[in-house]
Amino acid sequence: MARREQEDVIIRVQGLKNGFGDQGEHVVHDGLDLEVRRGEILGVVGGSGTGKSVLMRSIIGLQTPIEGSIEVFGENTIGREETEAVDIRKRWGVLFQGGALFSTLTVSENVQVPIKEFYPGLDQALLEEIAAYKVVMTGLPPDAGPKFPAELSGGMKKRAGLARALALDPELLFLDEPTAGLDPIGAAAFDELTESLQKTLGLTVFLITHDLDTLYAICDRVAVLADKRVIAVGTIDELLALDHPWIEEYFKGPRGRAAVASAERAQART
Ligand SMILES: Nc1ncnc2c1ncn2[C@@H]1O[C@H](COP(=O)(O)OP(=O)(O)OP(=O)(O)O)[C@@H](O)[C@H]1O
Ligand SMILES: [Mg+2]
Repeated sequence: MARREQEDVIIRVQGLKNGFGDQGEHVVHDGLDLEVRRGEILGVVGGSGTGKSVLMRSIIGLQTPIEGSIEVFGENTIGREETEAVDIRKRWGVLFQGGALFSTLTVSENVQVPIKEFYPGLDQALLEEIAAYKVVMTGLPPDAGPKFPAELSGGMKKRAGLARALALDPELLFLDEPTAGLDPIGAAAFDELTESLQKTLGLTVFLITHDLDTLYAICDRVAVLADKRVIAVGTIDELLALDHPWIEEYFKGPRGRAAVASAERAQART
């Protein structure tokens, strides 16, 4: 049993400390622990500036922590040689906060970027075929491929970013605020897409969000960042049972109540 549990943890963060400034004096994380289980959609919430994006950047190796250990797929990811890191990096996809598509490249070319990085020398026709497949998979019309990001709506840009994150058929997907800036209908559609891709592709999803609708609609568990660490992780019901003032305010404030109502309406429709 213990062994099986070990195998089912895809990301294990222990004792993470991150800080900025010359001496790292602006401490963002201190003693942060978190486990992400295989096949779950884990929502990560916390006030603005609590370090959600920095946590994601630490896990994917873009931010070197001051202390702590991070394992992904059972491998330590801190301080790896680039050549070793590549084998792990290939197994995840990332949609950064804000989308960050290359504005001078078409959607199709954006999707090809990670493929070319990890598999240089692939035939151009094959690259285009893979990109076209990813574009359609994220619900974009096929003619979106040759378009530039500036020609797309906000929701389409997010889908293009998702297509790029899925370029290498990852097992693990990192999404940083994927529905920020979308209207409620666009956001709900993106949530549905995330959930259906998670199910069909068997993905594990690390999902940073402010969007209470998203938390209620698709997250299996939610991790709450506050006081420089993960103060609680569990289902929304488990979190509410903790009686923590910030959690209470977050989920039971006016926006939380609206999200419950909308989740109930969605449930009633199915
Ligand atoms: N490269 C950096 N250099 C210096 N400080 C940074 C850097 N990146 C993040 N920080 C600081 O770390 C803290 C956490 O930032 P982070 O971007 O992780 O917040 P967040 O929880 O993602 O916020 P939001 O919800 O607004 O996206 C902030 O105080 C931020 O100013
Ligand atoms: Mg952020």
